[in-house]
Amino acid sequence: MEEYTVNWAVEGWQHHLERPAAWLRSGRLVAFPTETVYGLGGSAFDAAAVERIFAAKGRPSDNPLIVHVSSLEMLEQVVQREALTAEVREAMAQFWPGPLTLLLAPSARIAVNVYQRQPLVGVRMPNHPVALELIRQAGVPVAAPSANLSGRPSPTHAADVALDLAPALDALVDGGPCAVGIESTVLRLDATGATVYRPGAISVAALERTLGLDIRVDPLLSTGPTHGDARDASAPLAPGMKYRHYAPDAPVFVWSGPADKMVQAMAATMQSVHHHRVALIGPRALVLRAESTIAPVWTNALDGNDWDTYAPALAQALYASLREADRHRVDAIYVVGVPAGQEWSLALTNRLMKASEGRIFDIPER
Ligand code: TXA
Ligand code: MG
Repeated sequence: MEEYTVNWAVEGWQHHLERPAAWLRSGRLVAFPTETVYGLGGSAFDAAAVERIFAAKGRPSDNPLIVHVSSLEMLEQVVQREALTAEVREAMAQFWPGPLTLLLAPSARIAVNVYQRQPLVGVRMPNHPVALELIRQAGVPVAAPSANLSGRPSPTHAADVALDLAPALDALVDGGPCAVGIESTVLRLDATGATVYRPGAISVAALERTLGLDIRVDPLLSTGPTHGDARDASAPLAPGMKYRHYAPDAPVFVWSGPADKMVQAMAATMQSVHHHRVALIGPRALVLRAESTIAPVWTNALDGNDWDTYAPALAQALYASLREADRHRVDAIYVVGVPAGQEWSLALTNRLMKASEGRIFDIPER
């Protein structure tokens, strides 16, 4: 694997992408940064490259890939023109480049294994200068799932990509840490209405506010521990949503609620489940308060005094923190989550639900 470190603040940085771009065009695999998480890219025109992406991740073959484009001209090679309705164009105008994946009717040029027997193909324009320039130079749309081994937390740093995938990669482009930290929102927008199939970095509230549409959320999203089985029996439109995901080796426990009650609940869990070495990810004030009661061996104290500032900080840090906690060989990872009703709670709770296999505790105020 060749590594390219790209600092787009330095003039001439685009030249560092010439070789990885040529490789993408010729069917090789290149991992690259986006604003959400790192992607494992291959040409969306090349079925053999796409096949190698699935093999590299150990990804189930019923879980389709998102295609990344750098321009609207490139988009027209990915989807059918009729799919580009006024509503779809408006969504693109408002949110692209950005973390919104749209499900649209695929063109005949896209390798069919990109979308794996699904009726639609997911496509987005990432909001990252390195990703956009790499795709532009490659001259082909780039199919890219998150650049992690299937089931592991998504990578938000190049080093985490290398740990999971180095042997399978031709090149890794390091553009620094990802700013957003959780994946794009997957939205279907057509005659059937507007439906979110994976909650993500753009909230349902932001979609409704900006597009003036009623947004449905796929009722089968497994955001609750008991929903998993119901989902497996049906045909989910975003097939990736049904798998155990984002999971570190240590078991994850998630709490939200008043700080003092959370700390009490953490201490009680530590005792009853016999956790000796615990990692704690949460707002700075709570981490400080918990130090004397649960004495975590590793902490990530995040900025944020209220849910509106804490939630994006948690999103940005979550996956890297889960991976880092594992490296400290802890018995458990305790995470302060975000209670229902907050702008980010659907996306974060969805990820935390999978990472924790349902161990989420929302403690009421009184
Ligand atoms: O932010 C992101 O979306 C990142 C970066 C790299 O762009 N990519 C990403 O890809 O998260 P991946 O493969 O890890 O997750 C793609 C999700 C899965 O839940 C998948 O089932 C759904 O999108 N999806 C992709 N194509 C689809 C399609 N044609 N129909 C329905 N769901 C689709
Ligand atoms: Mg993924």
